[in-house]
Amino acid sequence: MVDHQISDYFLRHYNTQPLLIKAPGRINLIGEHTDYNEGLVLPASIEKGIYFAVSNNHLDKIQVETFLTQPEKIIFQLNGTHENYTSFWGNYFKAIIEILAAKNYPIKGMDCVFGGDIPIGSGLSSSAALCCGFIYAITRVSGTEISREEIALIAQEAEHKIGLNCGLMDQYAVLFGKKGNAFFLDCKDLSHSYVPINLKGYSWVLINSNIKHNLAVDSEYNKRRISCENIVKEVQKQHTEVTSLRDVTIKDLDMLSVVSHPIDIKRAKYVIEENERVRRMMKELARGDAKEVGKVLNEGHWAMSTQYEITTSELDALVKIGEGLNGVVGSRMMGGGFGGCTINLIETSKLESSISSLLQEYKKQTDIDAEYYHLSIDDGVNVYQQS
Ligand code: GLA
Repeated sequence: MVDHQISDYFLRHYNTQPLLIKAPGRINLIGEHTDYNEGLVLPASIEKGIYFAVSNNHLDKIQVETFLTQPEKIIFQLNGTHENYTSFWGNYFKAIIEILAAKNYPIKGMDCVFGGDIPIGSGLSSSAALCCGFIYAITRVSGTEISREEIALIAQEAEHKIGLNCGLMDQYAVLFGKKGNAFFLDCKDLSHSYVPINLKGYSWVLINSNIKHNLAVDSEYNKRRISCENIVKEVQKQHTEVTSLRDVTIKDLDMLSVVSHPIDIKRAKYVIEENERVRRMMKELARGDAKEVGKVLNEGHWAMSTQYEITTSELDALVKIGEGLNGVVGSRMMGGGFGGCTINLIETSKLESSISSLLQEYKKQTDIDAEYYHLSIDDGVNVYQQS
């Protein structure tokens, strides 16, 4: 529906049939805050997405209109000097245009109308969809070849400019996702493979706690990264070859108890164990053991709650409520933390009753209306409709 509205609007206002590009959001089955530690992640691109209707305007500017939250329009000059915007997406696009200009990519003027159905600040990576989709749109309109790997790096650099020192999981999931599959990524060498996640008799559902986060503004995300880097620096004093927590063991951490801050040790332990949970999840998915998959989800959640301390009381409540329902096999918060959605594995025969119990009990405990979405895994960024 959103896709038609956007291309129809473009046609009415710009008198051209646009090229329509879709950039999906992403979920993550397991592997949270491991990406910037050269660890393992298991995300997937989803059906909810941001649609970009675009066309070459033969001018020296990129004109962008959106209906994302409210009608807005910004005109960017191709030479790449802009003030800061009040609109959050304006600052992402400004950063991207500046990066492309600094790298001397030949980019052409473009008209762009975008909008979508990824709830913002909900752990579904609307910002990676925004950035990767916009860069991809520029490459298509300009006829400039930029590989998907390079698009991911540019989108990550834009996030860093905005203030979130994120890893590459979101960008890779959004760019390389494949319908029906989770995407296993080793962030140390960026090698990847696809894993089917359908478990017979079980369904994946997202529950939005409706607590929104703004990771780039809440510096808690970056603080977690600094804790991990502190530990790596300490280990490097003895083992110069170590470059990330990926090379650190629990035994190494035990040796650091006198020199490192206990909080940094606790955070690093979480990351090392989370990599292990990704391995277990891969194994259990391959075996089709839904109960074990559920266990990994719950363990992951409580580790994020007590060790990495990135959940909220509302997200903890959602997981706890699920633990008391026999149709919910497992659940966990997803994404950077401090708000957003949980991912839930639910017995299909008890799907409707489980969802309604979750929502009702959550409302009773928090006075907040949660929302749910059936999970549908779709392809990564692509042309959705030719012009
Ligand atoms: C955010 C970041 C990712 C990743 C996740 C947590 O989504 O953008 O790089 O660190 O948080 O797993």
